[in-house]
This record gives sequence, C-alpha cells and structure tokens, in this order.
Amino acid sequence: MEKTMKKGLILALILTLVPGTLFPREERWDWTIIDTSVLKFPKNFLWGVATSEFQNSGAKNCPKNDWAQHDKKFKSGAACDSFNRMDEDLALAQKLGVNAYRLSIEWSLIEPEEGKFDQAILDHYKTFCDKAIAAGMKVMITFHHFTNPVWFANKGQFEHKENVKYFVRFSMTVFEALKDKVDFWATINEPGVYAFQGYVFGDWPPFNHFNFAQAGRVLRNMLRAHVEVYNAIKKVAPQAQVGIVHDIVQFEPYYDIKPYRDLAYYFNHIFHQAITDFFKTGDFIYEAPTCRIEYHNAQGAKSLDFIGLNYYSHSLLVAPNPIKPYRADEIPTDMPYSIYAEGLYQAIEEVAQLKVPIYITENGISDAKDDRRELFIKRYIYSLSKAIEAGFDVRGYFYWSLLDNFEWHMGYNQKFGLYEVNMKTFERTLRKGSEYYAQVVQAHKS
Ligand code: BGC
Repeated sequence: MEKTMKKGLILALILTLVPGTLFPREERWDWTIIDTSVLKFPKNFLWGVATSEFQNSGAKNCPKNDWAQHDKKFKSGAACDSFNRMDEDLALAQKLGVNAYRLSIEWSLIEPEEGKFDQAILDHYKTFCDKAIAAGMKVMITFHHFTNPVWFANKGQFEHKENVKYFVRFSMTVFEALKDKVDFWATINEPGVYAFQGYVFGDWPPFNHFNFAQAGRVLRNMLRAHVEVYNAIKKVAPQAQVGIVHDIVQFEPYYDIKPYRDLAYYFNHIFHQAITDFFKTGDFIYEAPTCRIEYHNAQGAKSLDFIGLNYYSHSLLVAPNPIKPYRADEIPTDMPYSIYAEGLYQAIEEVAQLKVPIYITENGISDAKDDRRELFIKRYIYSLSKAIEAGFDVRGYFYWSLLDNFEWHMGYNQKFGLYEVNMKTFERTLRKGSEYYAQVVQAHKS
C-alpha cells in the first residue's frame, strides 16, 4: 500500500512539474482550405475605426494627465497631433468609406482641475461629432481610455470607492454636452487591462508590481463606476445606448499539464471571465493568488445596452519562449502575440452570454513592414462573418487604429495604423495592406 502511494505521489510530482506531451487545446482552423472572401454581413452593420485621444495627441496636447506626468520616461510628445488635425483625420476615415468612428475624450483636458470644466474643450469635441456626422458616421465616445487627470490620480483614482463620484460627474458633464450627437457611449475601456498594467505588471501609472489586491479593488470600483454612469445616463435619457469595452485574451496552457492549466485558469479568470461574469450575474468574484474580493450588485447584470469587445489574440502559458507566447507554426505580429483569428469567434461566444448586441470596438495588427496586415484583416473579418452567420448578434466592427499612434509603454515602434504617420511631419499615408479593409467596407456597407 505504502509502495503504491509512493508511486502515485511520484507520478503526481512528475505530472505537475515536467512539461509532458504536446496536447494543444486551442481552436485551430485550417486556413489553407478557407476562402476568406466569402463574407456575409447584416444590413446597417457599422464599419468603423477606433482611436484614443492620448495615443493620438500625446503629452504635448494633453499635459495634465498621469501619463504626461511621466513623459520623460514615455516620450509620447505630440503623437500624431490629432487634437489639432480633426478635419484631416476625419477626411482620412471618410476616404476608407467607414460609417462609424470611435474616439475617447480626454478627461484631463475637459476637467484639468477638480470641478473646473473647460467649455472650449467640450466645444472642440462637439465640433468633432458634428463633422463626423456630416461625413456620414455614427459616433461612439469612450469616457475613460486609460488616462486620468493628475488631480484624480493624486486622490488615488479608482483605488477608492469614494472617487467614483468624480468619474460620474465628469461623464455626465460630457453626456449633457454631446447627447444629441453621440450614438454609443462606452464608459470604460478595458478595465481588466488597466488594472493589470498599473497594479500587477507595473508598466503603467501608478507602477505597482504584483499588487493583486489593489488590482482587484480597482476593478471592483471601475465596475461600480460603470454601473453608476449607466444609471445616471439612463435616468435622464432612457433611449441612450450605454456599454463598456471589454478585452478578451484567451490564455491557454502551452503543455496540457496541471500547473500550466492552473495558470491559464487564473489569468483567464482575472483578466476577463470575472468581469464577464459580473455583467452576467451581478456578482464580481475575484480570486487572485493572494486575495479574494467580492462585489455584488444586481444592477450589474442590467447595466449594458451593448458590449464592446476588443480582441487581438491568444497567449500560451508558459510558452518555451515567453516573448513569443504562441506556437512555432503561428504567424507573429509585432506585438508579443500571433495572428489568431479563430480567437475572435471564441471571444464573441464568451460575450454573447451577456445577451446584448456586440460591437467589435477594437481589432487590428501591429505590423511595421506591412506584410501581414492584409492577411490579418482577411482572417479576422472572415472569423467575424462566421460568428454572425452562426447567429451571434454582432452589429459593428471598429478597426484599431486609424493612424499609427503612441502604444503606451511600448512607445512608437508598434505600427497599428491603417495610415502610416511620420511622427516628425505628421504626414499620413495609407498603407497598402489597409486597402483590403476599405474594399470590405465598400462591399458590405449598407
Ligand atoms: C487598447 C489600445 C491599444 C491596443 C493595442 C488595446 O488594449 O485599448 O489602447 O493601443 O490594445 O495594443
């Protein structure tokens, strides 16, 4: 008996510690036999581009936020100077034929000091919306896309429940100013990514490392902030369309053995599933290696008119080369992930549990050589079309991004733009690989 137990223990140890045979679990399609030109999209589907103010305008144009505070380190400069080039950027979008534009508005410009709102900046965004509408586009506004005014950051931003009211007041001020012009309101961009970059990986302000508990509290307060903004808007405008933007990365075990599976489970849970579950049930149950945080709010399950889905790729844990967390036969992008269009379909399946219309609010490739962009667009649009054919209620797609821009702590080496931007002259040039997107839009716009 003792001997058998010993053997069992040794076997368990081997299974736990030694990478075993390859058992790929992730979905893989055979692209050699797929005809990506076979596409079907419903009437009135939205074809758009997505941007964010700080990434497009940098610290020079947005000097009072928490990223600008660290511009010696990040060197965002003026980015592509979009704040001063709205006509040009809208014309570029129009040239692609898109009928929708997603932009974030910069809180630190609108409320540079606590409680002091800048009417001229609100007017600037009003003009932007008017011009977008005149160019035949529907507008989606994001209230929060990673940056905070310095005064809000100094108060501890979303770390404290008491600070949520500032975000609600700001959002409502913007809502009041733009309500006749905007079709979709996205409260917060990717709360999961925000909490992890700032509190676990430590690459973004406020640069905390492995502070899982703080990340959990921030997430909880962001979900709370979303619900409060949702309720406040619906109270004055029940017809307004309000949602949140959620990022999904599928973490999968590189080797199908226990420690890898456990790690993948944790990452999926913390990054996206706990958030998806909150909007499904009203229960946010966050279980990190060092803490457990719960937040129950029945209204959470009723706080979405749509869900925005940002999808880029999957990530394999722990790949032999952690800089390339995908399999050797996959096509890399310039970011640390591969082209994985199958995952877009799976991500749509996950957010479809929320039973509200879905908009793909971001999807795009960093490809400096522009030798994979067309392939990327072909595969992801195909995957999207397949999901729609299967009955998922996806109503729009926003390409990330219109222009090359400031890719947060990764700076300017990542080239996501449909248009290439010369960061010195700000000249914009359409990339060859982007033409396919314009063709798809033309062919399927109604
Ligand atoms: C963010 C963008 C970012 C993009 C590409 C998304 O997570 O919303 O701000 O530029 O991914 O990395």
